[in-house]
Amino acid sequence: SSVYAQTYVLNADSAIDVVSGKLISPATVVVEDNKIISVGKSNRKAYPKGAEVIDLSGHTLLPGLFDMHVHLTSDAHVHGYKRLQRTAPRAAITGVRNAKRTLDAGFTSVRNLGAAGYADIALRDAIIDGDVSGPRVNAAGPSLGITGGHCDNNLLTHEHKVFSEGVADGPWAVRQKVRENIKYGANLIKFCATGGVLSKGTKVGAQQYSQEEMTAIVTEAHLRGLTVAAHAHGTDGIKSAIKAGVNSVEHVSFVDDEAIQLAKDKGTYFSMDIYNTEYILGEGEKAGILPESLDKERKVGATQRASFTKAVKAGVNMVFGSDAGVYPHGDNGKQFSRMVKFGMTELQAIQAATINSAMLLKQNTQLGSLEAGKLADIIAVKGNPLKDISVMENVIFVMKDGRVEKQ
Ligand code: ARG
Repeated sequence: SSVYAQTYVLNADSAIDVVSGKLISPATVVVEDNKIISVGKSNRKAYPKGAEVIDLSGHTLLPGLFDMHVHLTSDAHVHGYKRLQRTAPRAAITGVRNAKRTLDAGFTSVRNLGAAGYADIALRDAIIDGDVSGPRVNAAGPSLGITGGHCDNNLLTHEHKVFSEGVADGPWAVRQKVRENIKYGANLIKFCATGGVLSKGTKVGAQQYSQEEMTAIVTEAHLRGLTVAAHAHGTDGIKSAIKAGVNSVEHVSFVDDEAIQLAKDKGTYFSMDIYNTEYILGEGEKAGILPESLDKERKVGATQRASFTKAVKAGVNMVFGSDAGVYPHGDNGKQFSRMVKFGMTELQAIQAATINSAMLLKQNTQLGSLEAGKLADIIAVKGNPLKDISVMENVIFVMKDGRVEKQ
């Protein structure tokens, strides 16, 4: 990134130290090349020579946001049978548009939790190569799942012989699948522990992989230095996934006290997509979501939000995960106000999308807070999000890796 060697001085009303929760006002952040040099109270005399000064008065600076659950290669208006028309190359091109929208919404890091044909890995690499602009993509490749489960494609009859690429049954088969994903570039592993809302013919609350299989997946992934995310709505599946040692559980709809305690003991992160239900029930039918999925959503949405409140109260490690791709990319920030509505403080919601996510990814020495020495992923919002969280829906300035991406 020394190609861009450039010094910036960002002057704003304030900056949020997401670790302490303190507001630095007025704030000046100095960026050199792709690193943060200093964060502190404004001191106009100390500007480095040749720096480009960016005036962000009226605004608050924050570290670049993380969304721990997206599907960049999926579109919200293409669901159900419509998705059968989408090839992996077509999905990769969609991903280019969605990566830019995500970055413009202030999300400089994402976990892409599942894509067919390794389209997410192609997208990640195109962003790294500078061919297209987008967030730092931590990509899973095809999600692992049981035959006929949530991570399989069950739309067609047996004559068509359709199985998703990540389908594997049995402890050694799942280990082989983890190895295959690593071979083709995955930097994390996603598997489906229970049924889901949007898959045909799955019971949303029912466990799918056995304990033995989940343990095999996690053991193999950890052996190779990758983190693991488990899709789990149902109580038994959530518990088995936590016991297997997953780094995060996605959705976590039907959690109980025992599962919450297990997560606390193990330090497992919960990534709960509590905005999603509004889009599915509002726009889902038009987008092609199956009637049976809409029925399932009616049973999941409200319960998931109550579970979120419980988990926050209990002090579980929480990250920000939206499942964007089910709903429109770029609208990721809409979830912040729901996280506050259902039990978080404004600071907790911001921590979920910054330092907590960086810790989940084991990237917290590099990213997740505005600190000297960290990578220059910085955003600005109007006003003060600690007072009005809805300003997170409108990110006006985005810097990633020391480059201004939106102003
Ligand atoms: N991908 C998830 C599934 O199909 C979406 C769940 C959305 N619903 C919710 N209430 N979060 O299961």
